[in-house]
Amino acid sequence: MTRTPVNVTVTGAAGNIGYALLFRIASGQLLGADVPVKLRLLEITPALKAAEGTAMELDDCAFPLLRGIDISDDPNVAFDGTNVALLVGARPRTKGMERGDLLEANGGIFAPQGKAINGHAADDVKILVVGNPANTNALIARAAAPDVPAERFTAMTRLDHNRAATQLAKKLGAGVEDVKKLTIWGNHSATQYPDIFHAEVAGRNAAEAVGDEKWLAEDFIPTVAKRGAAIIEARGASSAASAANAAIDHVHTWVNGTADGDWTSMGVVSDGSYGVPEGLISSFPVTTKDGSYEIVQGLEINEFSRARIDASVKELAEERDAVRALGLL
Ligand code: NAD
Ligand code: LMR
Repeated sequence: MTRTPVNVTVTGAAGNIGYALLFRIASGQLLGADVPVKLRLLEITPALKAAEGTAMELDDCAFPLLRGIDISDDPNVAFDGTNVALLVGARPRTKGMERGDLLEANGGIFAPQGKAINGHAADDVKILVVGNPANTNALIARAAAPDVPAERFTAMTRLDHNRAATQLAKKLGAGVEDVKKLTIWGNHSATQYPDIFHAEVAGRNAAEAVGDEKWLAEDFIPTVAKRGAAIIEARGASSAASAANAAIDHVHTWVNGTADGDWTSMGVVSDGSYGVPEGLISSFPVTTKDGSYEIVQGLEINEFSRARIDASVKELAEERDAVRALGLL
């Protein structure tokens, strides 16, 4: 039986993450080796030519699953019939820009994109926001799409989750595949909290196996939380291949499910769980099944974790208030 292709829209397609992402989507790594895809690339007008170059390269790969590539600078076209929307393109912070300027500039991108998704996307659309500030950009897009169920808007913290898994595995001399039930809480920013108190490494509680709160507070948490900045410092550019990899992981897990006895981290709309104000898009531990997700319930949060979750959630609330003051919510 020939399957109907899944429409996947990628914004910022001519950027660094776009270049690392598109070939993996077209080769079947996003949705599965038996799922044909049609790519919809959204770029700003001056970058359309570069996107066309990438499309030529995609053609030249002769991917059997790739059933078409459309390129546009119009969100209404790029999101038409989209099933999976990867919102990567964003306005980076440049010299002299205040945080409010950054939020306003991104409002000018994510509000129209949310509106276009609302008007044109397929009923089953799933949205992942990668472009920073990812959680708040997702909040802006979501507010502009009142007809799309709120839970379809997610923000990427899978890169932080993957970074934490590697750091923990290295510390304990284990493989990353032995690490389960890690959680990233809060914002995709330096305030995020990577939590190992419920994590397991090769069947042992990770915090007990580490047995060193100083390492946790002074090494592990800052290494994970500041990894993005460390990569910018080292490469002279933001993480791209690892970010694209995390976007693939995020959607693949959302669509195909978490393994029994494990969970993942996703920025999702809070239902008030763990004291995170309802409506904020915050990272939580989630399990996924049949294309849906649920926030893991009933975890005991110790004092060490509580203070750190609260600090990151406070930052999210401040970002929400700032975009609300700009009339974006
Ligand atoms: P980049 O500058 O290389 O590419 C961004 C692309 O977006 C550019 O081609 C630009 O033309 C395009 N763009 C800008 N405005 C657009 C719009 N309105 N519509 C469509 N396209 C638009 O940046 P990059 O390295 O690909 O990173 C993209 C974003 O991802 C940045 O905001 C970065 O901070 C963020 N990021 C997030 C994570 C995460 O874990 N959530 C990780 C790494 C990077
Ligand atoms: C990352 O975590 O690598 C990025 O979000 C960093 C950035 O500011 O682009």
